[in-house]
Amino acid sequence: MDRWTGKVALVTGASSGIGAAISIELVKYGIVVIGFARRLDRLQKLEKELSNEKGKFVPLQGDISKEQSIINAFKWIQVNYSGVDILVNNSGILRNSNLTDGKTDDWKAIFDVNVIGLCIATREACKSMKERDVNGHIININSLSGHRIPASVEDTNVYPASKYAVTAITETLRRELLHQKTKIKVTSISPGLVKTEIAEAGNSQALTERMASVRPLDPEDIASAVIFTLSTPPHALVEEIRIRPLEQPI
Ligand SMILES: NC(=O)c1ccc[n+]([C@@H]2O[C@H](COP(=O)([O-])OP(=O)(O)OC[C@H]3O[C@@H](n4cnc5c(N)ncnc54)[C@H](OP(=O)(O)O)[C@@H]3O)[C@@H](O)[C@H]2O)c1
Repeated sequence: MDRWTGKVALVTGASSGIGAAISIELVKYGIVVIGFARRLDRLQKLEKELSNEKGKFVPLQGDISKEQSIINAFKWIQVNYSGVDILVNNSGILRNSNLTDGKTDDWKAIFDVNVIGLCIATREACKSMKERDVNGHIININSLSGHRIPASVEDTNVYPASKYAVTAITETLRRELLHQKTKIKVTSISPGLVKTEIAEAGNSQALTERMASVRPLDPEDIASAVIFTLSTPPHALVEEIRIRPLEQPI
């Protein structure tokens, strides 16, 4: 991890759950973490908690579903920190809805955050990494739902489709970056059930019950996977990590 000391990471959705845990771990390794999310108070709390660590946590308020907000964030990072070396595409939502009578706005909101926002942030990060010819790393927080449909489809609607899209985008990007002869890596990390605020934020009673039926993963388990993939040497690419609670059957 020494080669990342003093480098800059943008973590989207750093205000809670997996994104907060990843940010904490990266700061402990001496990385400057730009924590991007809508809830500034949460980000500022994290900034205080991490003030004595090796690296630094910098709150940056923004909305991943709004293109201009993402572009502004990258401009701000360029002016203040030269650019981004690591991008963790972690912001993600689900909505209590279904495919047979759900609301179009809910489905669009899921795709705007989980897919389009991820693509815009990825494009801007690649520009920043290519301009400075760095060994950059893009890490997509995917899901087991990016590889299979969950056992219960209640409340599930377009969420798995959005994560299947992340699987496809990760592989398409890997080949594009290779074709362009860049030094940028892209990795997908696909967790099963993790104890975070996602069910509550999406008002999903069904997910809350699924979460309670097993000993879920902790956000720190996913942060460990991020550290593992970053700690590989520049010539080695971890493409995909799937991590599930031992007790989660499907
Ligand atoms: N928990 C699980 O069981 C699980 C399993 C597999 C995959 N995942 C994936 O893990 C990632 C993190 O989720 P989590 O479980 O940690 O959930 P969480 O605790 O609800 O965190 C979601 C994060 O996304 C951010 N976010 C939501 N909408 C946003 C927007 N419009 N703009 C910017 N940020 C936004 C939230 O920040 P603000 O609300 O402050 O903007 C929050 O920081 C997601 O991609 C999720 O799909 C989770």
